[in-house]
Amino acid sequence: MISTHVKHREITEMSIVVVIAIVFALFSLSAHFIDDIYQFLHQYTRLPLTEVLINTVFLWIVGTLWMTYRYWREAVKKQKDLENIISSINPDVLVVVDCDRNIKKCNPSVQRMFGYEIHEVINQKTDFLYFDRRSTPFHKDEIYKILEREGFHLGLATAKKNNGDLFPIEIITGNLQGQDGAVLLLRDITERKKEEEERHKLETQLQRAQKMEAIGTLAGGVAHDLNNVLSAMLGYPDLLLLKMPEDSPLKKPLLSIKDSGEKAASIVNDLLTLARRGVNVKEVVNLNTIITQYLETPEHQKLRSFHLEVEFEINLASDLLNIIGSPVHLAKTVMNLISNAAEAMPARGKIVISTENRYLDKAINDYVSINEGDYVVLMVKDSGMGISKEDLPKIFEPFYTKKVMGRSGTGLGMSVVWGTVQDHQGYIDVESIIERGTMFKLYFPITRKELAAQEVPQAIEKYFGNGEQILVVDDLASQREIASTMLKTLNYNVETVSSGEEAVNYVQSKPVDLAVLDMVMDTGFDGLETYQKIIEIRPHQKAIITSGFSETDRVLEAQRLGARTFIQKPYTLEKIGMAIKNELSK
Ligand SMILES: Nc1ncnc2c1ncn2[C@@H]1O[C@H](COP(=O)(O)OP(=O)(O)OP(=O)(O)O)[C@@H](O)[C@H]1O
Ligand SMILES: [Mg+2]
Repeated sequence: MISTHVKHREITEMSIVVVIAIVFALFSLSAHFIDDIYQFLHQYTRLPLTEVLINTVFLWIVGTLWMTYRYWREAVKKQKDLENIISSINPDVLVVVDCDRNIKKCNPSVQRMFGYEIHEVINQKTDFLYFDRRSTPFHKDEIYKILEREGFHLGLATAKKNNGDLFPIEIITGNLQGQDGAVLLLRDITERKKEEEERHKLETQLQRAQKMEAIGTLAGGVAHDLNNVLSAMLGYPDLLLLKMPEDSPLKKPLLSIKDSGEKAASIVNDLLTLARRGVNVKEVVNLNTIITQYLETPEHQKLRSFHLEVEFEINLASDLLNIIGSPVHLAKTVMNLISNAAEAMPARGKIVISTENRYLDKAINDYVSINEGDYVVLMVKDSGMGISKEDLPKIFEPFYTKKVMGRSGTGLGMSVVWGTVQDHQGYIDVESIIERGTMFKLYFPITRKELAAQEVPQAIEKYFGNGEQILVVDDLASQREIASTMLKTLNYNVETVSSGEEAVNYVQSKPVDLAVLDMVMDTGFDGLETYQKIIEIRPHQKAIITSGFSETDRVLEAQRLGARTFIQKPYTLEKIGMAIKNELSK
């Protein structure tokens, strides 16, 4: 379009020159004959022809010049309009520079992109508009070589607006053929960069989710088997302690077995969290309660005794809203964040733990998008050693630890935090500066539901039975054994069977007051199918569902059908006792 316009102008200019040349040629030609013509006409007409002729020619010349001028004005206006249209639809800045990179020409887009008027940039160095970190003489030589070879060069730089704001640009440098200098096209790539960053974030999130998923599946399998193994370690000490005299020397070692069992169970639970099968997110909880309760635990007191120089500041919002969550996992999350913070300050320092209500309407740090709404924020901030940029993406990976093996844990702490936040549909934000400290902010969506009444530990007499008939259905002999021993201790009559099919046959021949159904059994019916078959025979059969995993859809279905109570293995006397007692009393 521009080249047609230029051609058109050239033709116009040539025509003007030709017209003027013809006028002069005619004029000088007529000068030769003017005397003869004059003599001839004057002889016959006697009119003042010389004046008339001269005036006519003069008027004709003036007219022609005026027309030419008008024509030229019109052409210039059209050219200007065209340039304005081009610059209005072209957001890029076009700059012509001489060989010393002085700006010689510039299009009006410079106003929109940089905030400068054209005259302000003319004769300035290009550094006035942007700076390139690699802008060394060597780099410039390189550009010239590429220009000679390929005709253009593509580069990136940081541009500076007249209000000081920085933004990224792409520069396409083209050779000005036959002239000293170059033409530069400066393109604002802020949006493009933002999109690239978002894509990168999404990819990282996806990779992390996939990695956690894979490790979770593995961990889940191991955890399920370990759970069964642990049942004995957790269950029998309780039973033995009940039967032991107060002053027995065996009491201490037994308690220590129980303690180890509990520690192992907590690691298994961490693994289950990673497997995303262990988290039961359905209780209405208040994070303030979880935090205060954790701060009172012997575990926390122990942590403090190891870090006497660490100062704690607690700022909990008094009007903190409730969330729907799993108290056990939230408590673990709080514990992991606080212990990591304390461990990041080997000498002295300060940990700030705070909560607040926050309305989120735009994505936080690492997230591309978030669900807009009310959140509860838990912040744990330390003044410790900080986490380097390279390490930061790794801290949530299972088994990633920088701590001396044996002194601290297994590198599962932050994975549990990550898994818990995922299960609660929350978000994590981490900011860390080496040698200055780290701040974790966890966002959990709020609920307007009220807290349930507090559960208090029950005395064993509260869940003693009255000789009711209980049928334990489990494919694992060790599980049947432990459940049956516990229930006998609690004064129930217990029968055990090893499959769903056997359970159905049993119930058909003999009624039971309650069935304890294992949900996952390797062969044959699972807990749900067993219960479905049993209620065909005895429609009001009472039952509880147990599993090493957390609630699944099949568990929910069994609950809907009437097996209302679900308990998670490993069993403890209180857990199984209370569940059976409650169910029987309904
Ligand atoms: N507040 C923090 N300050 C500095 N580094 C941290 C902080 N929190 C976590 N990290 C880093 O992240 C790593 C992983 O933390 P994570 O809690 O998963 O494992 P761990 O603390 O090493 O072991 P575990 O929690 O199982 O006892 C830590 O080893 C540490 O390097
Ligand atoms: Mg840790």
